[in-house]
Amino acid sequence: MSAPAITARQDARSRAPSPRPITIALLGLGQIGSAVARCASLSAGSAQPVRVACALVRDPSRDRADVPAIPLITDPRAIFALRPDAIVEALGGLEPARALVTDALERGVPVVTANKALLARHGEALLAIAVRTGTPLRYEASVLSGVPFLGAFAARPFVSITGITGIVNGTSNFILGRMGDGESLADAIAEAQRLGIAEPDPADDVSGRDAAHKLAVLAWHFGLGAFSPDAIETTGIASLEAGDLGCAGKLGGLIKPIAAVRRAADRATAFVGPAFVPLTHKLAPLGGVDNGVLLDTPGGRLSFTGPGAGPFATATTMLDDVVEAVRGGQPPPRHTPPPAGVAPPSTAWFVRLRGSELPRGDEVAEFLGSHGVWIRHAASCGQRRCLVTYAASRGRVETALGALALATGVEWLALRTLED
Ligand SMILES: NC(=O)c1ccc[n+]([C@@H]2O[C@H](COP(=O)([O-])OP(=O)(O)OC[C@H]3O[C@@H](n4cnc5c(N)ncnc54)[C@H](OP(=O)(O)O)[C@@H]3O)[C@@H](O)[C@H]2O)c1
Repeated sequence: MSAPAITARQDARSRAPSPRPITIALLGLGQIGSAVARCASLSAGSAQPVRVACALVRDPSRDRADVPAIPLITDPRAIFALRPDAIVEALGGLEPARALVTDALERGVPVVTANKALLARHGEALLAIAVRTGTPLRYEASVLSGVPFLGAFAARPFVSITGITGIVNGTSNFILGRMGDGESLADAIAEAQRLGIAEPDPADDVSGRDAAHKLAVLAWHFGLGAFSPDAIETTGIASLEAGDLGCAGKLGGLIKPIAAVRRAADRATAFVGPAFVPLTHKLAPLGGVDNGVLLDTPGGRLSFTGPGAGPFATATTMLDDVVEAVRGGQPPPRHTPPPAGVAPPSTAWFVRLRGSELPRGDEVAEFLGSHGVWIRHAASCGQRRCLVTYAASRGRVETALGALALATGVEWLALRTLED
């Protein structure tokens, strides 16, 4: 007797109107734009279909066999005539992305972007336009693109974030992981390129520039400070050798690509660069291309980990942003007043000394101590001696090591050290 009732409910469901598709205009049809187009084409018949009205490209004659058929345009003025529900910016770079995002927000068209370079330099100004015009601007995929966590805090103004420490560049995490296994920097980069993890030109990842952009976005988003990525102390990974990572292992740690920012009394402190991470630290287990961010709050440390890049992860996060922007509007910005500037922090240091005739450990300790740098642990590995110091400023450490090099002929490398 119950079978006809079930059939009736199924009939009612199949007659339910499907939701109106959200129409987007794509700016850019490269790695990310193409993935957004592919994911959107699979959304037909889903709980929220998304239709791509057009894609702005530079060169319409390029082969795009792997992308669903979409009208391609080269004149940005054609975008708004199509009356899209939202703009998805996947051009990269500063211009014309900044001008087009500004235009959309001024016209009241919601914008979704994953462009950390744009947000690091113009995010505050763009958000001000979004707030003034009441138009959503969403950028969840700009940092840890596969781990939606930025938006989770927008509606939680009572969660106060006092510091952020993270691995925000998967390419350099992969490269340092390979070097930890004994591969040279050049071989590790070549391997990352072969696997599609590194760009043909990996300069932004290797130099730390990409991580500095993301750290500037995080600092600004969480109210720790609004400053240019150029103001952040940024060190690349190019000066490291596999032997340095092996030596770090003898001191109970790993070398990881770290980005960190903290709120101090009148300014923020921040750095980006390879750092010694004790094996007991929460970021130590993150290997391969994985990313992770630790948020310090008065109530404890929150952690978010997962894929930080990749076309599919980025595209799905952007499409979720589209749905939230069109349905939910703009979340209120966090109201913590930004500190006035940014400076490097005072941290402990991992120091590697190298030379054919290394001075004895007690001589090194006495020499560095006479310059105000105190050693906590030390270990020897072949022609290298490594040590971890107590906290000191970069200036003090570099002056002490420069004097040691002059006196003994050793070569040195100094990296910041994370505390547990
Ligand atoms: N790749 C990732 O895993 C990832 C992850 C998170 C965030 N992102 C961000 O996503 C954005 C896009 O990255 P992507 O890797 O997709 O870049 P991409 O492959 O270089 O694609 C850029 C696209 O923009 C178009 N374009 C560039 N300048 C243009 C101009 N002046 N006028 C018209 N079209 C223009 C290009 O047109 P043509 O096709 O004609 O050359 C291309 O379709 C960047 O902001 C990046 O930081 C990327």
